[in-house]
Amino acid sequence: MVALLAGTLNAVPVSAGSTPADPSDQSLRALSARHGLYFGTAVDMAALDDANDPQYRQLVQSQFNSVTAENVMKWESLEPTRGNYNWGPADKLIEFAKKNNQKVRGHVLVWQNQLPPWLTEGVNNGTISTTELRELLRKHITTVVKRYKGKIWQWDVVNEAASDPWDNPPTIHLKGFWAQHLGAGYIADAFRWARAADPSALLFYNDYNLEAFGDKGASDKTWYVYKMVKQLRQSGVPIDGLGSQGHLGTQYGNYNVFQVKEALDAFSDLGLATAFTEVDVRSQMTPGVQAGDSNEINPRLQASSDNYSVLLQACLANRHCLSYTVWGFADNHSWVPTWFSNPPEGLATLYDESYQPKRAFYAVKGDLIFSGPPYVQPRIPQHPKR
Ligand code: G3I
Repeated sequence: MVALLAGTLNAVPVSAGSTPADPSDQSLRALSARHGLYFGTAVDMAALDDANDPQYRQLVQSQFNSVTAENVMKWESLEPTRGNYNWGPADKLIEFAKKNNQKVRGHVLVWQNQLPPWLTEGVNNGTISTTELRELLRKHITTVVKRYKGKIWQWDVVNEAASDPWDNPPTIHLKGFWAQHLGAGYIADAFRWARAADPSALLFYNDYNLEAFGDKGASDKTWYVYKMVKQLRQSGVPIDGLGSQGHLGTQYGNYNVFQVKEALDAFSDLGLATAFTEVDVRSQMTPGVQAGDSNEINPRLQASSDNYSVLLQACLANRHCLSYTVWGFADNHSWVPTWFSNPPEGLATLYDESYQPKRAFYAVKGDLIFSGPPYVQPRIPQHPKR
């Protein structure tokens, strides 16, 4: 058995002299495949289609074996006006993935952000009742999941439902549009509707700040989500996975690999698959960083690299961690600079703005190359349950 596992993990071409070929020239997708892991990225469809930016497409194809739509599968993109669907960009990503032998993570079915204005305004002005809203959500999930039936590996069914300790009140609770209008039951409903529409897709709850447990008190978000998904499973709700987004910043302390592994293990002990779904590690862009001062840039690149590595090593060490997806792979196509402007933040991805690999790229590559038994074993596939 040990020999069999070692054989799987060391499936790197071996040169004539029986020394493994130098794997450092291999892609992230090839190196991940040795572990049964999928290395994914969020894809910006405008960049993918930009003929003046060929490197973007080339890297998506060559380095990644899983893709997630950064925006085009969100409700506002799919149904910008009521009843009129805009499938084009999402269809294109599905076709692209098929052509390039990539899995697709579907993102996202139920979220309080990027909802179409016709929906939120209709609810706010009273023309859409609560009963109708629930029916619209059922129809949305059913329509989207059925359209891509058999083509999506993992769906983010419910995204970012839990509050943060800095919200008011700091006791973690269900937040946002859906909980406010439909109550807590929308979460179980969403999973059931998604399962009915595609019984073969893995159904995930996805959220940020779930990398490790805190004090397991009322303001510990990871603990809250752990209890929530445990309850969902105990009630027979068809949930298959926990997506930990992995948006980190180098200005924070963050976690060590053992803390992160402990959290993944706790979720997988509930019978769930796990995945890192939106990894990036941003830094504050001080005037020194912006002026190119290496004294300020280098520690940030190193801290970013360390955090990428911590999340990947923990994922590798949890056999139920199926995929490690970065939320964009190059600093010229990252949500971070537009989102965090005061103070400005950036430097969050694996490649710089000219598509040069950064220290973090080499760190994750090294992690994939230099890991194996006994602590890193092949993934255990997850199949939809219930
Ligand atoms: O498409 C419009 C364009 O027509 C318009 O001219 C322009 C002007 O602002 O906006 C464009 O839409 C932007 C959209 O990205 C597409 O580029 C929105 O303003 C902008 O808010 C939106 O940001 C996205 C953000 O989600 C919004 O919630 C980011 O790209 C996307 O990376 C980010 O992704 C989320 C995940 O879905 C969930 N987890 C957190 C993650 C990061 O925030």
